[in-house]
Amino acid sequence: MVVLGIETSCDETAASLIENGCVLTNVISSQADLHAKWGGVVPEVAARAHLEAILPVLNEALASQPAPDAVAVTNRPGLLGALSVGLTAAKSLAFARNIPLVGVHHIEGHILSPFDADVEPVFPHLCLVVSGGHTLLLRVTDFGQYQILADTVDDAAGEAYDKCARLIGLPYPGGKLLSEIAASGSDSHYDLPLMLPKDNARFSFSGLKTAVSRLVSSTPDLDKAGLAASLQNAINSSLVSKLELWLPDGDFNAISLVGGVAANRDLRKRIGDLCAKEGIQFFCPPFERCTDNAAMIALAGWRMLEAGLQDDMSLEAFATSPLTNWR
Ligand code: KG4
Ligand code: ZN
Repeated sequence: MVVLGIETSCDETAASLIENGCVLTNVISSQADLHAKWGGVVPEVAARAHLEAILPVLNEALASQPAPDAVAVTNRPGLLGALSVGLTAAKSLAFARNIPLVGVHHIEGHILSPFDADVEPVFPHLCLVVSGGHTLLLRVTDFGQYQILADTVDDAAGEAYDKCARLIGLPYPGGKLLSEIAASGSDSHYDLPLMLPKDNARFSFSGLKTAVSRLVSSTPDLDKAGLAASLQNAINSSLVSKLELWLPDGDFNAISLVGGVAANRDLRKRIGDLCAKEGIQFFCPPFERCTDNAAMIALAGWRMLEAGLQDDMSLEAFATSPLTNWR
């Protein structure tokens, strides 16, 4: 089965073609530069940029490839104007070619992003979703079976990276740049609070922003690399500590790390090391499937279609949406 995936929920216009779980094309057009001067995503600007990019991106993903047998599209959650562009394109293609259409939850796309033709999941596993909008710890018992164990009460992990990066003068989205700078700093250079709420079901990151803001304004000769490394250590340590807390709580056979922040090398290494120590498997998507992309949407759609799920032309876009179980 050849599945076309389309993703336009935030500031990446993306299309991907997969064949029986093998990724054939994975085209991503990022609008990050457009939004950088505003320090965050401007919904109206994003929707317009998706309109301009969607056809060239689709053409590139489909060129010289087998014709799709189905279309999977992110229809929730996200910016409504942005989602509508991808959804309209997906419906048009499905209608014109008379092929099935399936709507995918963006977070489910991230959750299934490590699993393709070559990588089969093991169940149950702990899944850490760390992106610009979400920080979730999930128990995954099957495709389409998710239980939320922990959520953030304030900022998401990626948001914490981006907001602190901005405080030290890095352009949006600063997470990746910050982690690059961190490579040449010492992670104990500055003493930042370790964000570990007493409630195991909670993550919290907003205190870090306050600590970094105070430090920046009270330190004349700021060691940027030292601060970046200390901050990366504080965020990643609180994520890893939460995994260590939950791991003994279930019969978990693996940990998966997904979402934009899964591109962070220090975090990948720490969770990989934890899995090795525990003798369980570690799943993490390749770098190009960490930040928003359409291959993960095609992969999730493929699993749903295989399970007999399908939508029709009444499929709508939703700004917010719970992660529901379909199995
Ligand atoms: O999954 P994603 O592309 O978008 C959402 O669904 O939110 O995640 C984007 C987030 C941004 O906050 C970005 O700064 C962060 O992922 N990110 C990183 C790294 N690469 C991307 N954060 C830390 N280290 C990185 N290497
Ligand atoms: Zn995402």
